[in-house]
Amino acid sequence: LSKTVYVTRPDVDSSGLELLRKSCNVSTWSQPLPVPREELLRQVAGKDALFCTLSDKINADVLNAAGPQLKCISTMSVGYEHIDIDECKKRGIRVGFTPDVLTDATAELTLALLLATNRRLFEASKQVYNGGWKSWAPMWMCGQGLKNTRIGLYGFGRIGQEIGARLVPFKPSQITYTTRSERATEAAKINALRVSFDEMLTESDFIIVCCALTPETKEIFNESAFKKMKSNCIFINTARGGVVDQQALCDALKTKRIQAAGLDVTTPEPLPLNDALLELENIVLLPHIGSADIETRKEMSRITARNILAALSDKKMEAEVA
Ligand code: GLV
Ligand code: GLV
Repeated sequence: LSKTVYVTRPDVDSSGLELLRKSCNVSTWSQPLPVPREELLRQVAGKDALFCTLSDKINADVLNAAGPQLKCISTMSVGYEHIDIDECKKRGIRVGFTPDVLTDATAELTLALLLATNRRLFEASKQVYNGGWKSWAPMWMCGQGLKNTRIGLYGFGRIGQEIGARLVPFKPSQITYTTRSERATEAAKINALRVSFDEMLTESDFIIVCCALTPETKEIFNESAFKKMKSNCIFINTARGGVVDQQALCDALKTKRIQAAGLDVTTPEPLPLNDALLELENIVLLPHIGSADIETRKEMSRITARNILAALSDKKMEAEVA
C-alpha cells in the first residue's frame, strides 16, 4: 500500500472507500461538515491523490501544500468550478469528475422542484398545518400548469436533454433551448427549438437553468434579464447559484416582476437564515440535493475512487477534465 489518498469526507459511501483501500493508504476527515482549510492544507501534504467534493475549494494554496507527489484530484461531482484547473494543468495534476451517472437523478429533482414551484406545493401544504385550509375554494392555491406553455432550457447538455425528455408528457406547446452551439440531433428527439437568449427571456413561461458555471454564464441572469421575462414566468435553477445575480432575482420576485422561482442552488450555500429570499412566498428553496439519490451517490463514490486508481496507474480515467 504505497500510494496515499486523502478523502475530505468521512461519510462517502463505503463502496468507494473500499475500492481505494484495496491498493492505497486512505485517510479521511473525521467530521460531517467540510474539512477546515488548515486541516486540509496539513493533510494533503505528501499525498498521491485527493478525493474531494464541491465544498472544497482546490486552488494553488492546496496544490502548493500538497507538493509534487500529488498526481490527481478526483471530485465527487459533475461540476468542477471549485477546482483551479489551470493550476492543476501547470503542475501536471490530473482531474477526475462524475458526469453522466447523476444526469437522471438531477433531471428528476429538477422536475420535482418545477412541479413544487408551479403548483405551489410547500405554500399549500403549510396551510394544512397552520389552519389556513378553511375549505376547498375555486381559485385557491392555483398555479400555472405546464400544458400549452413555452419552456426554455438554458443549457442543453446531458442534464438539459433529460429534463427536456421528462417535460414532453406534460404537453408544453414548445420546448426551446439556448446553447452556444446547435444541438440538432438531440433537439430533434423532443422537437426542441433553438432560440437566442433574448428570445428565451421574452417568450418563456418557464425558464430552467441547466448549464455549467463558466465565466460566460456567471450572473447571466441579472436585472436586465429578469426585466425581459414575462410576468407569469417561473424560474428554476438546479445548476449553480453563480449563474444568477441573486439580489436581482430577489427583487424580481418581491415586486412580482416574475411569478415564482425554484432554486436547488444559491449563493452562498448554505443560505444564511436571515437571507431575504427566505421571506418570500413565491419561492421554493432546496439545499443542493440534485444528485441526492441513494444509488447515484453510491456510484459517484465508486467513480471518484476509480478515477483515482486509474490516474495512479497512468491509465485513462472514466471521466477526466480535458
Ligand atoms: C452537483 O452540483 C454536482 O456538481 O455534482
Ligand atoms: C452538464 O454538466 C450536463 O451534464 O448537462
